[in-house]
Amino acid sequence: MLASVYSAGISGIDGFLVTVECNQVPSENVRFDIVGLPDLAIREAKERVLSALRNSGNRFPEAKITVNLAPADRKKEGTGFDAAILTAVSVCSGALRGVNFANKCIIGELSLSGELRPVNGVLCMCVAAKEAGVSEVYVPVENAAEAAAVEGVSVYAVPTVKALFAHLTGAEKLTPVRPVTPFDGANQTYAEDFSDVRGQRQAKRAMEIAAAGGHNILLIGPPGTGKSMLAKRLPSILPPLTFQEAIETTKIHSVAGTLAAGQSLLLRRPFRAPHHTMSPVSLVGGGANPTPGEVSLAHNGVLFLDELPEFPKAVTDSLRQPLEDRKVTITRASGRLTFPCSFMLVAAMNPCRCGYFGHPTHPCTCKAGDVARYLSRVSGPLMDRIDIQIELPSLPYETISTADDQAERSDVIRARVIAARKFARERMADRPDIFCNAQLDPAGIHRYCGVDAAASALLKTAYEKLGLSARGYDRVLRVARTIADLAGSETIGMDHVAEAIQLRSLDRKYWH
Ligand SMILES: Nc1ncnc2c1ncn2[C@@H]1O[C@H](COP(=O)(O)OP(=O)(O)OP(=O)(O)O)[C@@H](O)[C@H]1O
Ligand SMILES: [Mg+2]
Repeated sequence: MLASVYSAGISGIDGFLVTVECNQVPSENVRFDIVGLPDLAIREAKERVLSALRNSGNRFPEAKITVNLAPADRKKEGTGFDAAILTAVSVCSGALRGVNFANKCIIGELSLSGELRPVNGVLCMCVAAKEAGVSEVYVPVENAAEAAAVEGVSVYAVPTVKALFAHLTGAEKLTPVRPVTPFDGANQTYAEDFSDVRGQRQAKRAMEIAAAGGHNILLIGPPGTGKSMLAKRLPSILPPLTFQEAIETTKIHSVAGTLAAGQSLLLRRPFRAPHHTMSPVSLVGGGANPTPGEVSLAHNGVLFLDELPEFPKAVTDSLRQPLEDRKVTITRASGRLTFPCSFMLVAAMNPCRCGYFGHPTHPCTCKAGDVARYLSRVSGPLMDRIDIQIELPSLPYETISTADDQAERSDVIRARVIAARKFARERMADRPDIFCNAQLDPAGIHRYCGVDAAASALLKTAYEKLGLSARGYDRVLRVARTIADLAGSETIGMDHVAEAIQLRSLDRKYWH
């Protein structure tokens, strides 16, 4: 007898429907083979399926059994096919008669006792199943909330093989899972708010400009001035995730296995802070079984590199491509995989090794030349991709010791950021490839960054007297564009340019 049951596999962050075909020929020599480019984990499925079948009160047929995973030319990985293989074997041996499998997709790993265990990538598989026309998806309980984010399919949370079979035969029906909440990215609040940060008005303003234009930003200052605090709070002033962004970001976390059990769609922008000892592969993704790196886990959110000069050059250099392309492409023997990685980079550093260079009272213990050496550890090509640099001075006691009633809350700042982005989008309506000012290329700068006479005079002075480079010139214009957007101004004025020049701390203070 021949049986076929649908399951799903993963390639990159895209799922694909897999047909689990099972054929059984009566034979005294019991055999069980799985073909169709399975990896080791799938070949081991035999043992789990045999044991789970027995422990769920079913018999393993005395026969020669062949399971084929189609399409047979596509590599399949992981343990998510277990439950579908077991089901196909059971159908083949005459159980589950009369059940229609044409509209069902079954996903899950099996324990030896017949429980369904969670697997990675269920959201992506569920999207693919729906697109292939499946209307019912059966998943382990822990993955159900994530799967239920996909509209238009019934998702069943299956605890055990027994429960699955009871449902399929109609003996005891499971109820489909409802999405935990309707999608609501706009009303998400963040635990950490901008108003927690005292003083640092300039740095907060710089963060607002960075958020409005999608500019990468570097925070420089002595220890304990609020650099990490501010970085962590950046997601709270970015526009809320759209449904599409939430799906994309959750897909990445689903594949990487970083979703908590029972987690549905991610509703907040991610914040990732990899340590400087991290390898380039864990940062950008890859490996033998390619998984998304930190840059992709930060997709649609923030990547924070704390203590930037401590990151080895090989690691920061590996960021160049992802920053430029907003996606990571990994080439393998079996083809190419792409993980999206559109993120804002926030970096933080002390001005020198001891941390106190330029501090008004605390003496700096670094030797002459050490400061320059420390700064030069930050790779030039990476610095080229950071539009804004801002210094956070150490705070006077009064500022740090008294509550700041004037400090604005994140939602107030966020409203301005949203308005500025909308203003910019309308201007650049005919360039859908550019979605924030940070992405303005020379042609875009020429086209959208018109300056008035006074601004132009100031730029000339900066270029000739302050040693502004050609690259620096573009950067000042991009940032000035965002500052003008925040002010609702179509032309860039002198004030906007002046503020943009202020946001180049390092160029002004240390490197010139
Ligand atoms: N501006 C501030 N407002 C309120 N609290 C602050 C501020 N700056 C620092 N703090 C307090 O000091 C702690 C350390 O701040 P934070 O981690 O942001 O410092 P940092 O600038 O990142 O220092 P480091 O260079 O050592 O990493 C915070 O948890 C907070 O309690
Ligand atoms: Mg810090």
